[in-house]
Amino acid sequence: MSKLLIKNIKGLAGVLENNNGPLKGSELDQLTVIENAFLAIEDGRISMYGKMEDLAGITDWNDLEVIDAEGKYVLPAFCDSHSHLVFAKTREDEFVDRIKGLSYEEIGKKGGGILNSARKLADMPEEQLVEDALKRLELIKSYGTGAIEIKSGYGLSVDAELKMLRVVKKLKQQSDVAIKATFLGAHAFPTEYKENQDAYVDLIINEMLPKVVGEDLAEYIDVFCERNYFTAEQTDRILEAGVKAGLKPKIHVNQFSVMGGVGIGVKHNAVSVDHLEELDEKDIEALKGSSTIATGLPSCSFFLSIPYTPVRKLLDNNIACALATDFNPGSTPSGNMQFVNALACIKMKLTPAEALNATTINGAYAMELGDELGSITVGKKANLILTKEIPSLEYIPYSFGENVVEQTIIA
Ligand code: NIG
Ligand code: FE
Repeated sequence: MSKLLIKNIKGLAGVLENNNGPLKGSELDQLTVIENAFLAIEDGRISMYGKMEDLAGITDWNDLEVIDAEGKYVLPAFCDSHSHLVFAKTREDEFVDRIKGLSYEEIGKKGGGILNSARKLADMPEEQLVEDALKRLELIKSYGTGAIEIKSGYGLSVDAELKMLRVVKKLKQQSDVAIKATFLGAHAFPTEYKENQDAYVDLIINEMLPKVVGEDLAEYIDVFCERNYFTAEQTDRILEAGVKAGLKPKIHVNQFSVMGGVGIGVKHNAVSVDHLEELDEKDIEALKGSSTIATGLPSCSFFLSIPYTPVRKLLDNNIACALATDFNPGSTPSGNMQFVNALACIKMKLTPAEALNATTINGAYAMELGDELGSITVGKKANLILTKEIPSLEYIPYSFGENVVEQTIIA
């Protein structure tokens, strides 16, 4: 039995004695911190924690590995509930086009964007995709991520979508980061279906979906519900088929326009609806009282210079909110959850406590891992951040751009 004791912790943050679902509204501002604390881990799970003065009895363990965390904080590792971490090539050329004045949507219309990534992915062998994605996983782990959701969606053909999801399956086997997989065949219409979009929807439903489910390659189904992408009706059809096949929805919606997709997601009991840079009152009404988590992606807003999701307003309406990176080569080439925390505070006006809860416990729930991860709770998997010596917890979002993580401990 392996045992680890972290002692003299300056602040043990994100303590939840028990948790029953994602934090909603004003609950997000409640972050329990135990000062001068210890935390014990047995066989990869949190077995005990408390004040240093209550440590008696634990010191006589045999084979105890000890970390002295003097001056440092311990908190749950980040749970990044929305990413496109598997991709073939970066897209700096489009970045420069945008600097020169083209918009993200204009680049997409020209055959750039998602279709650009799909062309590049089609040519890349599975092993190379795995190797590159593993490197990205190591990178985000060094910034504090201990769990991540990863989407397909750069395949856009039966073979390439399956290839992407098999890559994600290999990542689950080869990485110690907790991973959930999402089938996003409905990310964009391939050029050959431009004039016959419903035929592509049929392909997703009748050919891709049965194979994805048959090979047990995904937990979730996603659709990019957006003008020039998938309509609300097409989203409805795809989600209905996905749910019937046993997948749960987690969708892209309201990034650039309000199309009624939020209500459709809620209708299908989506685990989360993500982006929401544009929101109307009807969307908020749909989310109120539902079990669907509203997920903001502030690094995407930052990179594309589009509005930030009105998370403050969502919280005022007692809605559960999570924040994630959206790590992808087009709209968010960063998987850094510390930066998400900084933007949440600086641009969305969340408190540091709200930002931490949105990127830990609520991110975990947005991947249905809330019972396993996302808080300091006895019995949960010990995916934790040990910070460097820092003056306060608030320093984490304040010192944007700095890596305050000394070590991400996985189980
Ligand atoms: O979440 N909006 C759709 N999908 C991604 C971007 C994909 C891309 O540009 O490659 C997003 O922003
Ligand atoms: Fe995305």
